[in-house]
Amino acid sequence: MDETSRRGDLDALFRPRSIAVIGASSNPGKIGHEILRNIIEYGYGGEIYPVNPKHDSVLGLKCYPTVLDVPGDVDMGVVAIPAAYVPQVVDQLGAKGAKVAVVISSGFSEVGEVELEERLLRAAGKWGMRVLGPNIFGVAYTPGRLNATFGPRDVLPGSIAFITQSGALGIALMGWTITEGIGLSALVSVGNKSDVDDDDLLGWLSRDPETRVILIYMEGVKEGREFLEAASAASREKPIVVIKAGRSERGVKAASSHTGSLAGSDRVYDAVFRQSGVLRAYSVEQAFDWAMAFASGRVPRGDRTVIVTNGGGAGVLATDAAEMCGLRLIDPPPDLAAEFRRYMPPFGSAKNPVDLTGQASAREFEGAVAAALSHDSVDNVLVLYCETAVTDPEEIAAAVARAAGESDKPVAAMMMGGERSVRAMRLLRSRGVPAYPTPERTAESLCALVRYRELRDRGSAGV
Ligand code: ACO
Repeated sequence: MDETSRRGDLDALFRPRSIAVIGASSNPGKIGHEILRNIIEYGYGGEIYPVNPKHDSVLGLKCYPTVLDVPGDVDMGVVAIPAAYVPQVVDQLGAKGAKVAVVISSGFSEVGEVELEERLLRAAGKWGMRVLGPNIFGVAYTPGRLNATFGPRDVLPGSIAFITQSGALGIALMGWTITEGIGLSALVSVGNKSDVDDDDLLGWLSRDPETRVILIYMEGVKEGREFLEAASAASREKPIVVIKAGRSERGVKAASSHTGSLAGSDRVYDAVFRQSGVLRAYSVEQAFDWAMAFASGRVPRGDRTVIVTNGGGAGVLATDAAEMCGLRLIDPPPDLAAEFRRYMPPFGSAKNPVDLTGQASAREFEGAVAAALSHDSVDNVLVLYCETAVTDPEEIAAAVARAAGESDKPVAAMMMGGERSVRAMRLLRSRGVPAYPTPERTAESLCALVRYRELRDRGSAGV
């Protein structure tokens, strides 16, 4: 199959014109019921066809005994019935002209049922139909208002595409992104990767204008060479962040019994990631922190950075983290220092970190951040706010977002404190400013942006 036809096939995975849900159960709490409910309630605009021989209607929609009885065309089939019956249903989906089968059901190669998985693939292959899964929680694509998963419904729109080999981890993180205020463009559970795998998805998502960064949780790849090529091409288009589990000896064994992955030598993976320009994160938190920074869509011109803070301690911690990960903290030139002094009391400091002091309000933050962003000597601004009783974190967040909105330079912000600061952090994220609860995470996320830029300039990203 050439690249164009493969890409065409995946259009139906993210932007299907119609969906059949096979195993659409009438029982709330059952997987086939919850997937259908999510598709309907998240606002999918195409035709939806429940398929189940036992019912005339499910969730208010007419239900069909088999997919072959559906009157209209079916682009995507979501299959949630016991594994033994899946190959036959997949064959029917192919006969109906579906372009992709999203097979939720478990009970295939991950438990040794290799022959059953091969039958499923043969049934799909006969019709040139692609298969996502089996053993997955589904797929979501927010620009198309598609949530064909049995995870939480209200996925926030954004520009991070998240591919996950682990179902439980992925579904848990789906809920976590909602509480954290992190927006996603796509969420894809790949499970056994019997057909559609990381390289197919990298190909499609790297060309997707709604996606700015691709984040992958992986335990292993099946075809190392294909991954290397796909990741090299994709990282030329946009940043790719990978969390690769199975780093320790025991971790490798755990990965192998979890998804049957060839977790392989971690050093080999390291080399593949380096060669293909992929950024490797070492924890879920770090991966999402970086992805959030990339999702802002801002490309640093260089590493020259200014820290603007209301707290000396946070400034020192961020300074250490920034210097250690490769950001360059500049000495503000006299005209910029004079500008900074307009926004601080006499006992503040116009050096870097710029200390506006504990009484700094929204006006001071906005003025100092805007001054730094508009000066030629500055490439990036790190904003650190420590919550005090005399200042309002949400007002300050809104002011920082306004200043950031006037510039195309990267800004990363810390909002550290209690509930009000958590709300302020979400507010910033909703306005496209990456925001974090600690100085180190803020500095390191900005570093990831600068590192990607350097990789790309050196030609190491995607070469
Ligand atoms: N065509 C249409 N509908 C059918 C067919 C068929 N051929 N066969 C069965 N059905 C209907 C059933 O009548 C039932 O509907 P009802 O509840 O209204 O009676 C519905 O499909 C489901 O069938 P059940 O036999 O009740 O199966 P059940 O819902 O218990 O399980 C499931 C099906 C969910 C696919 C299960 O086999 C499975 O694989 N579970 C694991 C899924 C999973 O965890 N995937 C990985 C996710 S990642 C993670 O770990 C979070």
